Amino acid sequence: MHVRDLGCFRSVAVRSDDASRGVAGHHLLDIETLEASEIRRLLDRARELRDTVSQSAPVLAGTSVITLFYEASTRTRASFEIAAQRLGASVITVTSSNSSVSKGESTWDTGRTLAAMDPGVIVCRHPHPGATHLLARAVESVGRTAVINAGDGAHEHPTQALLDSLTLCDRLGSVEGRTIAIIGDIAHSRVARSNQLLLTKLGARVLLGGPRSLVPASLEAIGGTIIRDVDEIIRQADAVMMLRVQFERLVGPPPFPSLADYNRTYGLNASRASLMKPDAFVMHPGPMNRGIEIDPEVADGPTSVVAHQVRNGIAARMAVLERAMRKGPWQSQGQGQSRGQEMS
Ligand code: MLT
Repeated sequence: MHVRDLGCFRSVAVRSDDASRGVAGHHLLDIETLEASEIRRLLDRARELRDTVSQSAPVLAGTSVITLFYEASTRTRASFEIAAQRLGASVITVTSSNSSVSKGESTWDTGRTLAAMDPGVIVCRHPHPGATHLLARAVESVGRTAVINAGDGAHEHPTQALLDSLTLCDRLGSVEGRTIAIIGDIAHSRVARSNQLLLTKLGARVLLGGPRSLVPASLEAIGGTIIRDVDEIIRQADAVMMLRVQFERLVGPPPFPSLADYNRTYGLNASRASLMKPDAFVMHPGPMNRGIEIDPEVADGPTSVVAHQVRNGIAARMAVLERAMRKGPWQSQGQGQSRGQEMS
């Protein structure tokens, strides 16, 4: 059984409502509890910040942003750190190997300890679904630090979905009524889950494809329609988002006979990409496993918008950081906020 976390997702979804309504309602823990209007506002603000980046005010000057990463990351961490620096914040990087986590400290205690130093924001990546919701509760028990989820296990990756929609809107104008394909290991992908939720909130038609072992029918409940014939999905899509197999989250026997079989049946090679509509384009959140879910000629070819996605990540995260600190267009929401309970 490869879809081991689905039961866990359900319990996380219940808890997320409570955490998002907490003392510091400015956390960004998931897409699930974000209204469509708030998503549009974040995308509008990201566009503004991107277009005025050289003149943007250092609205987070004097603020500390801690990136707390319990899992490997290249683009997400660098992107958050650049976004925070562009807004004038100072950035402190904490990873599980260079911190007291390696001495057995719990996520709860790490959260309370960091929050007691009064940073504006903690950006957290964690291998366990729901861990950033737990962290939000821990910091709320100390002060007013905001928590941003930078990916929690196979649960959600909200800023990836925001930057993906920013990229989609750049090319398509709007995602409403558009057909967006997500193909690959959807069961274990936080990127897929956040995109399924966000795209359906914004009125897109989402098509899901991949092996039955990694795309079980139950995933339609999150958003989208499964089509088993990947070629058919590719013919219909305005944009094709390819996902890697999350090997680190697999348990049990391999979910497909071999990598060659996977590549032949589900991978995006030049011949399959030639089925795309004339203006359709290819997305990938990275890291790419070339020769498995995507072939190099497509990854580096003219229909690929992967580098554009990465660039948009900075603007999307600047908007999210501003919101977390109630700065910029979110300034008025910060009025009258009182500090939470101090650490006892
Ligand atoms: C993630 O952190 O989820 C990545 O952006 C996508 C992946 O690891 O496949």
